[in-house]
Amino acid sequence: MSEKILVNNFADALRLTQTVSKGGCAAKVPAIELRKILSQVKFSTPGKNVIVDGSTFDDAGVIKIAKELALVQTLDFFTPIVDSPKLYGQIASANALSDIYAMGGTPISAMAILGFPVGKIENKVITEIIQGSVEKVEESRADFIGGHSIDDDVLKFGLSVTGIIHPDRVWKNSGAQIGDVLILTKKLGTGTLTSGLKKGIYTESQIQEALISMTKLNSVPEVLGDLGLFVSAATDITGFGLAGHCLQLAKASNVSLEITIDSVPFFDQVPESISNGNLTKAHRTNFEYVNKETNINEITEWKKLAFCDPQTSGGLLMVVPEDKLKTIMDCLENKFPEVKQIGRVLESGNSFINFV
Ligand code: CO
Ligand code: CO
Repeated sequence: MSEKILVNNFADALRLTQTVSKGGCAAKVPAIELRKILSQVKFSTPGKNVIVDGSTFDDAGVIKIAKELALVQTLDFFTPIVDSPKLYGQIASANALSDIYAMGGTPISAMAILGFPVGKIENKVITEIIQGSVEKVEESRADFIGGHSIDDDVLKFGLSVTGIIHPDRVWKNSGAQIGDVLILTKKLGTGTLTSGLKKGIYTESQIQEALISMTKLNSVPEVLGDLGLFVSAATDITGFGLAGHCLQLAKASNVSLEITIDSVPFFDQVPESISNGNLTKAHRTNFEYVNKETNINEITEWKKLAFCDPQTSGGLLMVVPEDKLKTIMDCLENKFPEVKQIGRVLESGNSFINFV
């Protein structure tokens, strides 16, 4: 790992994770609660130009604005998941940009969302967070064009991002076809490792592989180019964990997913970290969310929790035709060396996900 991680360089370093009760995508509202709330809202009928809205729990909204052009729109923000301000800004931004990539889109502009206790957290800390964000947005080749901030009790940061896409090339989570295979671009385990960081069990340098992974852009559409036409469906693995996001994709596509347990990649310390109890509330709520509709309860304890581990800026789960697998893997391997085939798509059955 040659890349240098930007850890705290303030002498009197304030540990950002100690200013909040929960961090990153683990602080997401549980899926079951969100569904309960949204089911009570009377939404208006989508206009004729809406390609994707919130009804399928996809990664971003997509709206057609011209014959050959659609906008991809998303926003994401969360409380600190790491201690170093610049790193937090980078991770929050890579995570927000990811939902554009998960739809197959190209990010074009970003705006910051910021809340912090003015006077309690020093301005130089906030400057670093925004600087980290600006750098990631620049790396994505989008423009950073503004933002909004409020004086808030708890520090939170993120981006609203706009991307563009051809209306016929959107990677919906509802497109998985029977016979397709599943590939994942990043290792899993950021939830348990950052929970260990918050508790002081790990330092940032001890979990550096996971931190670098979270700062990495999921720029798969750009790398695939026209090969992206073959992608049937995609989503990014974030707060609901591998199991939760697979469940949403399986439901939206009306298929069942078979996940090969031993092929799923994890960061090295994940078994130890989970066994030592570095868990978040989301581990439990994600498990409850997927338990009834998968066979997750039958697998080894640590892996059960690892499949429910809430990811922040996790990898893309791509669904591709089996006969294009090799070409797509060859294309991705250089930029995404962690990419693995982790399962396949079957006819819908008793269970939306089968761990084998
Ligand atoms: Co997403
Ligand atoms: Co999101």
